[in-house]
Amino acid sequence: MRRAGLLAALLCAGSPQAAAWAATVASPDGRIVVTVDADNEGIPFYEVSLVGKPLIARSQIAFNFTDEDPLRRGLKVEGEKRAQTDTRWEQPWGERQWVADKHNELAITFVENRADPRRVTVRFRVFDDGVGFRTEFPQRAKPETRIAEELTEFTIAAPGTAWWIQAGDWNRYEQIYQQTPIDAVSMAHTPMTIRTADGTHLSFHEAALVDYSGMWLQRLTGQKFRAHLSPGAGGAARVVRKGAFDTPWRTIRIAPDAAGLVENDLELNLNEPNKLGDVSWFKPAKYIGIWWGMISGKWSWAQGPQHGATTARTKEYIDFAAKHGFRGVLVEGWNYGWDGNWFGNGRDYSFTKPYPDWDLEGLAAYAKRKGVRLIGHHETGGNIEVYERQLADAMKLYGDLGIDVVKTGYVADAGGIISCNADIAQPCAGQVMAWHDGQRQVQHHLRVVEEAAKNKVAVNPHEPVKDTGLRRTYPNWVAREGARGMEYNAWSPFSNGPDHEPTLVYTRMLSGPMDYTPGVLSVTGGNGVPMASTVAKQLGLYLAIYSPIQMAADFIESLAAHPRELEFIKAVPADWAESRLVAGEVGDFAIFARKDRNSPDWYVGGVNDATARTVEVKLDFLDPGKSYRATIWKDGEGATYETDARHRIAYDTRTVRKGDTLTLWLAPGGGAAVRLQPGK
Ligand code: NOJ
Ligand code: CA
Repeated sequence: MRRAGLLAALLCAGSPQAAAWAATVASPDGRIVVTVDADNEGIPFYEVSLVGKPLIARSQIAFNFTDEDPLRRGLKVEGEKRAQTDTRWEQPWGERQWVADKHNELAITFVENRADPRRVTVRFRVFDDGVGFRTEFPQRAKPETRIAEELTEFTIAAPGTAWWIQAGDWNRYEQIYQQTPIDAVSMAHTPMTIRTADGTHLSFHEAALVDYSGMWLQRLTGQKFRAHLSPGAGGAARVVRKGAFDTPWRTIRIAPDAAGLVENDLELNLNEPNKLGDVSWFKPAKYIGIWWGMISGKWSWAQGPQHGATTARTKEYIDFAAKHGFRGVLVEGWNYGWDGNWFGNGRDYSFTKPYPDWDLEGLAAYAKRKGVRLIGHHETGGNIEVYERQLADAMKLYGDLGIDVVKTGYVADAGGIISCNADIAQPCAGQVMAWHDGQRQVQHHLRVVEEAAKNKVAVNPHEPVKDTGLRRTYPNWVAREGARGMEYNAWSPFSNGPDHEPTLVYTRMLSGPMDYTPGVLSVTGGNGVPMASTVAKQLGLYLAIYSPIQMAADFIESLAAHPRELEFIKAVPADWAESRLVAGEVGDFAIFARKDRNSPDWYVGGVNDATARTVEVKLDFLDPGKSYRATIWKDGEGATYETDARHRIAYDTRTVRKGDTLTLWLAPGGGAAVRLQPGK
């Protein structure tokens, strides 16, 4: 498909850079059309329209370097290639078993209009629910490409609302989301969510962030955004690559409603297939841990009278896990290094040497005998130099002991990652500071994931780099934090406000699974601080915030004191055949229906913001001709997060069939959880 760029041709007649033709590529259903060309100054650009209306206005694709001319002006289209895909692939675990990949592809090669010209190819993939594109740099004589800045732009055509968190500030991603007009955003992390005035939902993000710096979105003027790459290590170029390479995919999810934004596999489809082969050794599961005690200030990570990770306590947790069917027991503060200043420093960590009051090998064996696994913990304090030196030994130790999931951590302010080299392949050159989402840390995470995979260990980083769908390629990269988690509720009253989780669903969660750590049934943090959550919302979180490893974060005494809620947590799967958003709006509420991957059961539920509401869920996803027993955990009468009434929960059972309607009343800061089991 080529259409005459008549106006451009007329205006620029005679100019050597004039574009006579523009290439277009449409989504398989024809609703989304991408136009690609170079303008009359030879600047490569793209535009996106949705059913004939502009969605992304003309936006450039360009680069600056530290040691060569900008790649921006004076380019022209040299050639194009097209392809089509219509297939599906299976996830080893996830929100759904099968992912459909249907798209049209257009790759345009641009060449510079000068002696010794440089070339790049920009590849677009257009799906019915989004667009991805990346720039591909070919092999050239120059051994290294040093990118100072990627100048790719995203000019949103229609006004609307944005949900976003600040990039480039001291706090990495652990922020409360801001809801502003699009033209009030400053520098945003991705995913950034937009709802335009006509109700179109967009999410800007990236896919396959490998050996490159993470992309922030900097608003330049009006509704025009530009890529702003996370800084390079040690003040070097933001990205340094040898030989041929591709940028990550720049992605735009495009949907008519909130459900279309959530039930969208754009980034997964743009990642490479599984490189690890059979990963059936990773078991999606729930876990408990010696954790909330430290987070809420009762126990310590460091040695001493309050030390959380004692052998005796760990046995109690293993026994509780075995009794209630939790596969994992996370234990933090087990290793040397926590006694001094670990926050943002991490110089003293040993990842192989347990404290004397914690019997690593004995406990790993004790757990295994009971059908439970310890979950390992590697807090680095952001010091990846110390960690990388011990990485192979640390992962081998866990692998040998059958510890098959490790939570890692990078507690340091943004820009506070300590390395000794700007590039993983370089020899140690003294202290070099890096960013949590810069190229060096992106390299580091993959190194950890690969080393873990060699030992059949799955990885769950906290203070991570954002997810960009890499779980498809490395399915042992099972979850991350990468947003403000439950832990903040331990530290101050209503810390994660009632809107927080119904916003996460449509923002952070579009990037991938999150280790949010739900299940604090006391709905109380340290020193009795209240949470902006009812008890039922704690259950709804298991359906709203997906992870294949789901924690029940509370003390085991508190879990035991809520036997009926514990029954739900024990039952709810961490691996699904299907997931649908059946009711919800960005930032307001989110109710999912999810089908268990290993049984015919369905689950319905989710979370609400501060406004009480009644939601009608049409049960049209159930199998016809069957009756289902619905077990319901719901906000009790008068429940609200604002007072002690946050503890009010009610229970119900009903028999339902396909086509029936389930009515759920959601309290302010409330939630609901329903299990649907077919009858015999
Ligand atoms: C912050 C993490 O989010 C939390 O889960 C962990 O317990 C602490 N760091 C210590 O590693
Ligand atoms: Ca954290």
